[in-house]
Amino acid sequence: MLVSEVINNIKNYCQGSWMGMKIDDATTRDKILFGDPEVECTGIVTTIYASVDVIRKAHELGANLIIAHEAMLWNRGDKRDWLEESHNETYLAKKKLLEEYGMVVWRCHDYIHSGIPYRGGYIDGIFYGLAKVTGWDDAVITSDLTGALYLECQQTTPREVGKLLMEKWNLNGLKCIGNMDAKVTKILICGHIQEGQDIKPLIERIDRENINLILPLELIDFTLTEYIKDSSQLGQDKAILAAGHFNLEEPGMKYMLEYLDDAIGGHIDAHFVQAGDMYTYM
Ligand SMILES: [Fe+2]
Ligand SMILES: [Fe+2]
Repeated sequence: MLVSEVINNIKNYCQGSWMGMKIDDATTRDKILFGDPEVECTGIVTTIYASVDVIRKAHELGANLIIAHEAMLWNRGDKRDWLEESHNETYLAKKKLLEEYGMVVWRCHDYIHSGIPYRGGYIDGIFYGLAKVTGWDDAVITSDLTGALYLECQQTTPREVGKLLMEKWNLNGLKCIGNMDAKVTKILICGHIQEGQDIKPLIERIDRENINLILPLELIDFTLTEYIKDSSQLGQDKAILAAGHFNLEEPGMKYMLEYLDDAIGGHIDAHFVQAGDMYTYM
């Protein structure tokens, strides 16, 4: 099967519409970031992003297609002109490696988030995959605009959840905010907490529904972080465990292996390669 056929089959397997709008191939983020897709696919690696080590490992495994969820060249849209013009050394070395290995990198972001088949409908492939890898699939309640995923579980603590995440996601550590021994029954994976964002709907929801544990993607110190710190200093059962954006979404790319054969309509040797842990600590 050609790499281009693998990619098209995965696109067709996914729901392919985003908030009711069909994904437009002209504007989607899901572009071929590197390489010529009109070649036979020798193997597939899934990952969160095509780091230098992921590229090396993919080649070692005999793969020539990397399916990555995030961009590869450190900027929105993976634009390369500025890197060519400035002769960026890291870019040139990374490009040389990809060329030497005949690697194709395809970004699968919008399609996997648009949904993979689930109980006669579709569910976000990244966040459902995360729940499966963590062993939380029975606890999933909803997915909506103020939360990528909402779960209700038997009473636990942030400390226990943290241990589980470190084990299942293979992490070196977690950023912890609030009371690590709080009583937790409601967990929200809340998306990015970024500068300039209207935080009111999220804080209102956490307060109203008494959500105990927040797992964010990106996380700044302003807004939510301060709110959780104050809430827990007032004795409320509230905490944040921040693994980091890429660490949190990466299990969704690991889970992709479970349905890849169905998606491509055949069997190609495939592996998950963890790009991180994004962080080490000292
Ligand atoms: Fe992301
Ligand atoms: Fe994502």
